[in-house]
Amino acid sequence: MHDRIKDWYDEQSFEDRVMEMFSPGYVENDIVEGTGSNLGSGSGIDQFVDDIEADARAHGRVGHAQKAARANRDADGTVKLLRRHFEATDDIGSDQNVASLHFPSLQRRIADFEDVRRAMNGTDLTEVTPAIRQRVNNGILEYIFVRRRGNFLVPLREHRAVPTPRPES
Ligand code: HEM
Repeated sequence: MHDRIKDWYDEQSFEDRVMEMFSPGYVENDIVEGTGSNLGSGSGIDQFVDDIEADARAHGRVGHAQKAARANRDADGTVKLLRRHFEATDDIGSDQNVASLHFPSLQRRIADFEDVRRAMNGTDLTEVTPAIRQRVNNGILEYIFVRRRGNFLVPLREHRAVPTPRPES
């Protein structure tokens, strides 16, 4: 996907960015230091998911992580998507070198990805306040634009040739 990364930094203060990436509660509680490495291996977003409509009304914006996390837990509270990303400049479909990002996500069913991606759209929150539009004050959607999607089936480990061949199964 193509990122408007310069605008993300130029148009917004540190607090705006923390609100839009995580949730307004992260600013109120002063949770993120600098680039956020103080969060360690868990962002703690679960505590802020239920606040989302109140945040929309009070702050006129909602966070990417709090929106997406709404759909990213199974019945035991385990995350459904194994997310990774890597940065690039190969804005596919364009002849320019611009900030881009590849976003691989592993999940048992594509429906799990679709549910999370729909939750990330936050269409429901555009109905809570006119301050939130489909791509304005709605997490990071003002700054990311998908160029291509691809879906691939990954065989179960026991059916793969590597890392360990298991011809018996
Ligand atoms: C430029 C694109 C993106 C960036 C920079 C980004 C960055 C982040 C960051 C910094 C967080 C909070 C920390 C964390 O939980 O890892 C987060 C959370 C999350 N992101 Fe993204 N993200 C992007 C796109 C996406 C996309 C396309 C999806 C898939 C639908 C997604 C799904 C999620 C989910 C589900 C969470 C919450 C994790 C949880 O369930 O606790 N993100 N993202």
